Amino acid sequence: MGKCYPTVSEEYLKAVDKCKRKLRGLIAEKNCAPLMVRLAWHSAGTYDVCSKTGGPFGTMRFKTEQSHGANNGIDIALRLLEPIREQFPILSYADFYQLAGVVAVEVTGGPDVPFHPGREDKPEPPVEGRLPDATKGSDHLRDVFVKQMGLSDQDIVVLSGGHTLGRCHKERSGFEGPWTANPLIFDNSYFKELLGGEKEGLLQLPSDKALLSDPAFRPLVEKYAADEDAFFADYAEAHLKLSELG
Ligand code: HEM
Repeated sequence: MGKCYPTVSEEYLKAVDKCKRKLRGLIAEKNCAPLMVRLAWHSAGTYDVCSKTGGPFGTMRFKTEQSHGANNGIDIALRLLEPIREQFPILSYADFYQLAGVVAVEVTGGPDVPFHPGREDKPEPPVEGRLPDATKGSDHLRDVFVKQMGLSDQDIVVLSGGHTLGRCHKERSGFEGPWTANPLIFDNSYFKELLGGEKEGLLQLPSDKALLSDPAFRPLVEKYAADEDAFFADYAEAHLKLSELG
C-alpha cells in the first residue's frame, strides 16, 4: 500500500536514512515524541479532498500556519527540529515533518509506519479551521476526517489512539493533563483508559469520549483495548494514509 511520489535520488535516500538517525537521537534526548506526532498530524490533517488544498506539504514552515489557533505550541517542535533541518537541506519540509512523526511512533515502541519520500513543498498554507475541535462530538469528527480529509470511521478511532502519547497543556489548548499514565510509551493504554472511565490525573477530551457514545466507533475502541496487535496494524495503515494525503 502507499502512494507513488516522484522517484528521489540516491543522495536523497541517503539523507532520509541519516536524518532518521538524527531524529531518533533528538527525540530520545528531548522526550519530544508526542510533539513530533502532533506536528506531523497537524501538517497532514488540513487536507481537503474537495479543493485538493492543504495536507502534508511542508506548509507548517510558514508563520501564518503556525499561528492558527489549533497549532499552539507547534513552534516548539519546529525549534527543536531546526538543528537537524539545517543538516539536511536536500529534504523537503514536507518529507521532513512526516519523517519526524514516523520516527516518533517507532522510538516510543509503536508500530513501524512505512515512509515514502518525495513530497513536494507547497507555496501556500491552507486556510485556518480545518483541524478538529476537541469540544465537539462524532458528527464533527466525521465532517473533518471523512468529508474533508477523505478518511474512514475506523481511521478516526485508530488515529485517536495517537493520544496514547503526550498530554494537553493549559496554555496551548485550554485542556490539561495526559490521557495515560505512560505518555512517552506508544501502546493501547489510551483505549483501555477510555473504557475505564474518568480517573484522577488523567484526561478525556469531549472528542475522545465521543468514541464511546457512537455506535460505529465504540466496537473499535473495545477491539483496540483488547488487542494491541490489531491496534498497531490498523494504526500503521491509517498513519501511512494520513501522511500521504493529497
Ligand atoms: C480526533 C480529533 C483530535 C482532536 C480533537 C485532538 C485534540 C488535541 C488536543 C486539544 C491536544 C492538546 C494540545 C496541547 O494542549 O498541547 C492534542 C494533543 C495531541 N494530539 Fe490530538 N487531537 C485529535 C486527533 C489526533 C490525532 C489523529 C493524532 C495523531 C495520530 C493526535 C496526536 C496528538 C498528540 C501526540 C498530542 C500530544 C502533544 C503533546 O504532548 O505535546 N491527535 N490533541
